[in-house]
Amino acid sequence: MTALSPQDFAAWMGAIQQRTEAALAGVLPEPTIAPERLHEAMRYAVLGGGKRVRPLLVHAAGAIGGAQPERLDRIACAVELIHAYSLVHDDMPCMDDDVLRRGKPTVHVEYDDATALLVGDALQTLAFQVLASAPVTDMPTRQLGMIGLLAMASGSRGMAGGQAIDLAAVGRQLDLRELEFMHIHKTGALIRCSVLLGAQAGTVDGETLERLDRYAKLTGLLFQVVDDILDAEADTATLGKTAGKDADHDKPTYVSLLGVADARRLAQDMLAEALAALEPLGARAGHLAALANYIVHRPF
Ligand code: IPE
Ligand code: IPE
Ligand code: MG
Ligand code: MG
Ligand code: MG
Repeated sequence: MTALSPQDFAAWMGAIQQRTEAALAGVLPEPTIAPERLHEAMRYAVLGGGKRVRPLLVHAAGAIGGAQPERLDRIACAVELIHAYSLVHDDMPCMDDDVLRRGKPTVHVEYDDATALLVGDALQTLAFQVLASAPVTDMPTRQLGMIGLLAMASGSRGMAGGQAIDLAAVGRQLDLRELEFMHIHKTGALIRCSVLLGAQAGTVDGETLERLDRYAKLTGLLFQVVDDILDAEADTATLGKTAGKDADHDKPTYVSLLGVADARRLAQDMLAEALAALEPLGARAGHLAALANYIVHRPF
């Protein structure tokens, strides 16, 4: 597969991040609309930060099947709104109790706990509103399935379930299989869903979809393995969130179980597997391949 040049990847990434920001700003209610404080806090949680990895995956996978970019924007918004909600709740005192997110005070610090709770609730329902209120494919029954997929990836069998496992695991030593199960759910599910929704907005054959799914599963787990490494290795200013908090909170992570060096090796192995899944797709999958590389080597 001819690799995308770093310049081309950076330009593509910047363009998708920019259009995602505009699309999100368009679907979030204006802060002048009542209830003003809630709408202001929702915009605070979503806009002006974040790598937008999930929207990037939606667009990269969607382009493979020739999906319309405007439809992909809608899917990207839905997934990013779920992600932003998960971060707001993840940071609350009853969960990870964090004060810094994307270089700013967390929502419950800037506003209050009740507002943070409601911001999460409202972002979650807005995600489904966005995905349900206009076509993202020409086939209405397929769209119903896509809405169901996002619900599954977000709920107790996906992200929220993974978060429950994460909280129950504090102070315990999990084995590798249990840790993988937790990470696949709390982070992997929504990343996998981003790739699948993008692909389903276009037209891809069964074998391509299977390859994309294999890539998506590996990349989803990989994303959280690297998050664990960054928590242990990077500094707060670079991360835009408090470094070292996993160890402080006695969280089981890939670093606590394997150590940094082995966690890094595992990430490299998973990257190689994810790239191998894409290999037969050729240049069409160049952006997805570059994204997997970015996920492993990202600074924050
Ligand atoms: C952080 O996600 C939480 C995890 C699921 C690991 P990101 O690293 O994608 O956070 P942002 O969106 O770029 O801030
Ligand atoms: C968060 O995992 C996963 C979700 C938000 C679903 P972490 O708790 O490790 O994420 P950070 O490190 O706070 O971003
Ligand atoms: Mg957490
Ligand atoms: Mg956290
Ligand atoms: Mg983390």
